[in-house]
Amino acid sequence: MAKRKLILDVDTGTDDAVAVMLAALHPALDLVGCTTVNGNVEVQYCTDNTLRVLDHVGRSDIPVYEGLARPLVRPDFPIPRAVNDLAGQIHGRTLSVPPSGRRKADVGAVEFLIETYRNTTDEITLVPVAPLTNIATALTLYPKLIERVPEIVIMGGGHEVGNITPSAEFNIWGDPEAASIVFAAKFRKITMVPLDATHRALVSYDDCENLRALGTPAGTAAAEFIGHRIQAHDAIQRMAVAGTTPVHDAVCVGYLVDPAIITTRRHRVAVETSGTLTVGRTVIDTHFRGGGEPQCDVAFDADAGRFIALLLETFGKSPRHLAECHYE
Ligand code: BDR
Ligand code: CA
Repeated sequence: MAKRKLILDVDTGTDDAVAVMLAALHPALDLVGCTTVNGNVEVQYCTDNTLRVLDHVGRSDIPVYEGLARPLVRPDFPIPRAVNDLAGQIHGRTLSVPPSGRRKADVGAVEFLIETYRNTTDEITLVPVAPLTNIATALTLYPKLIERVPEIVIMGGGHEVGNITPSAEFNIWGDPEAASIVFAAKFRKITMVPLDATHRALVSYDDCENLRALGTPAGTAAAEFIGHRIQAHDAIQRMAVAGTTPVHDAVCVGYLVDPAIITTRRHRVAVETSGTLTVGRTVIDTHFRGGGEPQCDVAFDADAGRFIALLLETFGKSPRHLAECHYE
């Protein structure tokens, strides 16, 4: 079977880090590159963290392209951030893996996205798991992107639940105008993985111990990052089950190799950019009241067991074993 190619747009970040490792190590995936953007931490830290994580799991061959440092319209939104704000506590600034021995790519993220999609005949899935600033900018400069991307899989939004405000999820709130552009664009297929789904795939301390017991760089790092998330969530944003955390971004990558990890319904989705209380809210027309054509496959549920099994299976294989797998 041919590998599925993807580009991950990240603001690494503890859950982005698990997504990066899953995409870099799963034998059915071909991670063409990572692009970084302002989000959980300032973009230069996102880039540094992404390089660290890739090097740590033996994938220094995957390039990292640095993207935009500010949201499209709001110069101070959501920065400056306090180191001890919500994102600060859940992610920290620098991930606890050794520094990378290499540099980011010379080309910027937006240029890389445009040139890659302009020149390729391959189907490359685009997976943004961060504020959508890079993607909206690439779309504005190169509108044909919508035809070139076979599927865009977005971690973002929430229907029943927000995390940065009662109404909004962080990635959409982080650049609402960019998100509005991306959801309104006529991509061939948009899959949206909101909090409603990621909060159904909770990972526990026991799961962390199982990951650590794998004894691989990825297993140990995942246990570290996820354990840190559980501590922070228990302290400031407790999940329905104490001692657990969502690992949002990795659910999107999991879906690429095991679509049954999420359950979707098709709806119209738009983004609120002006509401005082609701800015950054994804308005999901669950009852078809707005008359707009549904354009988005929205995940409302996720299968925690399948997701955790995938992490264990993928991170349990040493890089050498993975290299020996043939998925042609
Ligand atoms: C999203 O926001 C970020 O903090 C996480 O990395 C994830 O992409 C969850 O709301
Ligand atoms: Ca993220």
